[in-house]
Amino acid sequence: MATILMLNGPNLGLLGLREPAIYGHDTLEDVEAACRDALQGTGHELDAFQTDHEGAMLERVHAARQDADAVVINAGAWTHTSIALLDALSAFEGPVVEVHISQVHRREAFRHHSYVSARADAVIVGCGVQGYEFAVLRVARLLD
Ligand code: DQA
Repeated sequence: MATILMLNGPNLGLLGLREPAIYGHDTLEDVEAACRDALQGTGHELDAFQTDHEGAMLERVHAARQDADAVVINAGAWTHTSIALLDALSAFEGPVVEVHISQVHRREAFRHHSYVSARADAVIVGCGVQGYEFAVLRVARLLD
């Protein structure tokens, strides 16, 4: 049994409340439950972590070197700013899939560049929260 770690960065704890026209009405708890359902029968389990603190995220990625086999990450705004997060993910050896709920390429120019994409094995953008389910299924396949 492999462990897939789902990571969410800043403001994603407000999912369901925050700008619902862009991010929808599902909460992060709903998303985690949907991902656990999607993984049923694959033999893989989900671990989930959200933080608004960049250092805490870096430390969680470091710990993933020991306690996770794959990472699904929506880094929120750190996507566009954090070389430190890119470096931490680069030190992780398993599959990494990047998720964005919104279609970032149709939004402001500052959302078009992703540092995380330089490490990600796949990028899922603009599928709403369903993108997380696609991502966990993709890493499950990569782990098999
Ligand atoms: C986001 C897109 C980012 O630009 C934004 O800062 C977020 C959410 C998305 O899921 O669409 O916080 O990662």
